[in-house]
Amino acid sequence: MTHPDKAFADTAGTTINRSIFSDSTTHQRELARVFSRTWLFLAHEGQFRKPGDFFTTYMGADPVIVTRRRDGGYNALLNSCRHRGMRVCRFDEGNAQVFTCPYHGWGYNTDGALVTVPDQDNSYGDSLDTSAWGLRVVPRIETYKGLIFGTWDTEIPSLIDYLGDYTFYLDLMLDPDGQGSDVVPNVHKWRMRGNWKLGAEQFCGDMYHAASTHLSAMIVEAQNSHGIMPPTTGLQVALPNGHGLGGFDAYDYWGASGLSEQTVEWMAGLQDRTEAHLGRARARDAVLIHGTIFPNASLLWPRWNLRVWHPKGPDAMEVYSWCILPRSAPDSVRRDLLLDYQRHFSASGTWEQDDGEQWNYATNSHDGFMTRDLPLNYGMGQGRAANTRFPEFPGVIDEVNSEINQRMFYKRWEQLMAEPHARETSAQATTRHAEAQIAVVQS
Ligand code: FES
Ligand SMILES: [Fe+2]
Repeated sequence: MTHPDKAFADTAGTTINRSIFSDSTTHQRELARVFSRTWLFLAHEGQFRKPGDFFTTYMGADPVIVTRRRDGGYNALLNSCRHRGMRVCRFDEGNAQVFTCPYHGWGYNTDGALVTVPDQDNSYGDSLDTSAWGLRVVPRIETYKGLIFGTWDTEIPSLIDYLGDYTFYLDLMLDPDGQGSDVVPNVHKWRMRGNWKLGAEQFCGDMYHAASTHLSAMIVEAQNSHGIMPPTTGLQVALPNGHGLGGFDAYDYWGASGLSEQTVEWMAGLQDRTEAHLGRARARDAVLIHGTIFPNASLLWPRWNLRVWHPKGPDAMEVYSWCILPRSAPDSVRRDLLLDYQRHFSASGTWEQDDGEQWNYATNSHDGFMTRDLPLNYGMGQGRAANTRFPEFPGVIDEVNSEINQRMFYKRWEQLMAEPHARETSAQATTRHAEAQIAVVQS
């Protein structure tokens, strides 16, 4: 019998308990124990141009409104009215000074304070203390080079410490040449069948699937690759806190990309500027491809893509996906790179659909009577000597075909799942108290 809080099905850490992809108790517990204790990506600063601009998203299963304050900082508010729980903001984005609940009209300002209650005198007299009934505010919001993160946890380290050495790699997307980056307006959103961890763990460490899952798309694209193919060697990088990323040994990625000659030429120049700004190793030694910031933010470096896998129950996810481009890129290059991202990894992207197909069919079989207790093999690369080809790269480095990152991802997940959240224990105490009262009444 599997355990809802255990990722690993064996003591050696080679196999994964597959019920973590379908079990509803596991899902509820990870909302409480994983999503409440980690830094979660919310939005990009480029989505907010003036005070009152807002964007609605999720922290785990909790809907939140991210707003820009007058002082240039950001708030995140739980998007659920304190009267009957209605979503006070039903737009994806916009500008507002007050969020008025559609149900009975309570209004909240962008700090979350309850500022209007229709017909308050006749309805409540003096009995409603509006200062106690504001929207719940996310207590910590921090940013890194345009990325806005939030957490419910007041105890965990700062965002910069949480990311740690991930910033060494992240900077290749967010600030490759010292001029920073900006987000393309509008966020792609789509739903898929499959637990959120299927996306997060694949982007964290799975290069192995590409040659099989994406073979058809690769054959079509090979016609534009000028005979240049990726090497069969590369790296996976496992970092503390469950973060991971991977890529190939250096090769002429942009030459093989099939993008316009002008874009390929611009990218070659960018690589030179990256070498001047971030050093030779980051600019030249590897081509980073995929990665995950634990728990559910993932990146695709060559597609300039950042996405979040929002959990939607144990067997469904909703992806929010952004395209983040170097600020120095001219319009024609931006257009080319944006189309390249959309063709591959937006809702209609060929590679995106390849991945979704695998997660859909795996999910269809996760919850069978015979399948649910059958562990899955995550042992690739276990016990192998470290990859020493990238001495300047921080982290534990393995070869490109390895599941070290997935194992580290699930170790972190299991650590967090081992400790009940304080709200769970107080809820249990409340339930026990209520049951005791019922027993007294009945006796
Ligand atoms: S539910 Fe929002 S005002 Fe009643
Ligand atoms: Fe893929």
